[in-house]
Amino acid sequence: TMMRKLMVAGNWKLNGSQVMLRQWLADYAESAADREAVEVALCVPYVYVPVLKELAAADVTVGAQDLSAHEKGAHTGEVSAAMLKDVGAELVLVGHSERRQDHFESDALVREKCQQALSQNLTVVVCVGESRQQRETDKTFVVIKQQLDAFSDLITADNVGRFLVAYEPIWAIGTGLTASAEQAQEVHQFIRSQLAAKDVTMARQIRLLYGGSCKGSNAFELFSMPDVDGGLIGGASLTAEDFMAICREA
Ligand code: G3P
Repeated sequence: TMMRKLMVAGNWKLNGSQVMLRQWLADYAESAADREAVEVALCVPYVYVPVLKELAAADVTVGAQDLSAHEKGAHTGEVSAAMLKDVGAELVLVGHSERRQDHFESDALVREKCQQALSQNLTVVVCVGESRQQRETDKTFVVIKQQLDAFSDLITADNVGRFLVAYEPIWAIGTGLTASAEQAQEVHQFIRSQLAAKDVTMARQIRLLYGGSCKGSNAFELFSMPDVDGGLIGGASLTAEDFMAICREA
């Protein structure tokens, strides 16, 4: 992972408030982590993106959790890539398993969302991952490959610096059941080798994040794996204290 700068990204999901965000940023500002070693991003609910943009130190990448697959028009309730850009977002999550499951997002839709994000030069973190049942029936690699194939041709030498893939095994999300470092590495290596079949240099440069019950106590082991370039953090990103404990391991 020498040449790839680690990223630790928080995903607040449907949690938080202005008070909580202000407190988080104040605590973050006081923390003594090495800001050079790791890129820190925080993905907040849409309505808090402008607050994050206004109050965050320059070294916090401003993130949103999703975006519309449409550019504009008659799509009530949607938020476009241009709108995110307009209020200062720099990064967006796409294809989180909670979107795929709860909102029936298909691989084709995930691809369209990637295209929208790229059209506004937003950094895009695309999530992939298998369910418990898929793992138990040995479908992990088939599932990951299918999810990856839906968007991987969009990754180019020009945008690889702002295109990340997050491996989030669904059985590890919010369950306290972290993938072992070896399990994470196995899939990360698979993802990188799939990408290398298309472009070796791009595959070496792309950052692959692990997500799923990542916390201070297991982050070091996970981040030590050769193909794990940081983490996407849910529950443990809700307080700056827990989140910075992970960043310190990076
Ligand atoms: O996107 C982050 C995520 O789904 C992991 O959540 O709570 O298991 O860290 P959590």
